Amino acid sequence: MRISLLFFALFFLFSIHYFQDDILLKSMDRGSKLYRKNCVVCHGKNGTGKGKRIPPLAQSDYLLNNIDKSIRGIKYGLKGEIMVNGVTYDKVMKPSGLTDPEITDIMNFILNSWDNTTETLITVETVKKVIKQ
Ligand code: HEC
Repeated sequence: MRISLLFFALFFLFSIHYFQDDILLKSMDRGSKLYRKNCVVCHGKNGTGKGKRIPPLAQSDYLLNNIDKSIRGIKYGLKGEIMVNGVTYDKVMKPSGLTDPEITDIMNFILNSWDNTTETLITVETVKKVIKQ
């Protein structure tokens, strides 16, 4: 009895893990297409940005440490001074005009591409909660 309970618990944990991975991979896949359409012109195919004009997303300390602020920037636009990997940018990014589910997928893509990794799965709720300031 105890053994089967243990097996059940293990199976349960394993399926949650598997399920989450699957959600992430599907979201990233949609996100990669949206990225190509909406972000690639500026931030580049490999997320490297463009020198002092456009900040990188690959290995960006700003992105990885400020998930909510990054979502806010994509949703409502971003302007003014920011520091990304020791470089100061004082430019303007317009609101993307994307929906919350689309921003969710793009976030999952950029947070897990180009050697970026994060433990956090971004959900539509995460994006919905980010409001204009
Ligand atoms: C027209 C060019 C342009 C497009 C298109 C664009 N961005 Fe940006 N992005 C910028 C600029 C410029 C900044 C810096 C703004 C500042 O200096 O305050 C920025 C900043 C950022 C930042 C925060 C800084 C960093 O590098 O970590 C993130 C995250 C970001 N953009 C993600 C995106 C995503 C995702 C898309 C597509 C939905 C996108 N951007 C589309 C120009 C652009």
